[in-house]
Amino acid sequence: MRLDGNAALITGAARGIGRAQAVRFAEEGADLILVDRCAAVQHSTTPGATSADLAETVRQVEALGRRAIAAVADVRDQEALDAAVARGVRELGRLDIVCATAGISSSGPADTMPAEVWQTMLDVNLTGVWKTCKAAIPHMINADQGGSIILVSSIAGLRGLVGVGHYTAAKHGVVGLMRSLAKELAPHRIRVNTVHPANTRTDMVQNPATMRTFVPGVAEPTQAQFEAAAQTMHLLPVPLLDPRDVANASLFLASDEARYITGATLPVDAGHCAR
Ligand SMILES: NC(=O)c1ccc[n+]([C@@H]2O[C@H](COP(=O)([O-])OP(=O)(O)OC[C@H]3O[C@@H](n4cnc5c(N)ncnc54)[C@H](O)[C@@H]3O)[C@@H](O)[C@H]2O)c1
Repeated sequence: MRLDGNAALITGAARGIGRAQAVRFAEEGADLILVDRCAAVQHSTTPGATSADLAETVRQVEALGRRAIAAVADVRDQEALDAAVARGVRELGRLDIVCATAGISSSGPADTMPAEVWQTMLDVNLTGVWKTCKAAIPHMINADQGGSIILVSSIAGLRGLVGVGHYTAAKHGVVGLMRSLAKELAPHRIRVNTVHPANTRTDMVQNPATMRTFVPGVAEPTQAQFEAAAQTMHLLPVPLLDPRDVANASLFLASDEARYITGATLPVDAGHCAR
């Protein structure tokens, strides 16, 4: 029960890594504020999550005996985020942990990318992270109980990846935001860190559009072809991580075990960055 009595805000909570964080945190005693857009984002190739997905995360959290306050909100919408967080804090009585996890993907060479594809990526994967922090931080400072903010970046936040210049720029930007926030919030005992997953088994990569980018020249790659290509990015013999692996790293950063860790970039990457 490493998060006993804590409350955590998670964006992108309807499925994937966000759901895994919610369930893992609930297993360790946390109550949850769960935010998701529950619809596809225009100019993203990631299939949209649904309200049923978010309801399923709530069900899994409640099955563990914890409370879940869910809100359908877009991380690009500051007012909606502020309202969701305020309601959650009112109902749960506190806010100790934030996971800014919502994100989208799309691909294309940077030099020919349509401006709206670039802008949407930056709006969701970078500015959405800042807006999430902006909604949460005043509650944490007012409570004066410290806290932990975990920003979900990517291996693309540490290295340049081909064909996703906009995603890479956004995920590097998240690291810059983390580094400034770590300094600004340290006097309040609020820690801020990033996690950097490699290929993880979620709808973001496990869809036809993304699978094609892994196997260029093949119109409909098989799962085996996709996994063989994904494997080449990792040092350890595993093509795709489980969302729970990322949730475990997030749990560590959220817990008191990481009480003197702030401003850090934690890869969960099967050795990708060491290749
Ligand atoms: N899956 C991977 O291989 C991988 C690798 C590195 C980093 N990441 C990052 O992990 C995070 C979670 O991704 P995932 O793999 O779980 O993908 P996912 O698509 O399964 O989950 C993302 C969730 O974010 C939500 N979301 C998207 N845009 C939103 C918006 N504007 N407002 C609110 N909610 C929104 C979606 O509805 C979805 O439920 C993302 O930031 C992603 O960039 C994923």
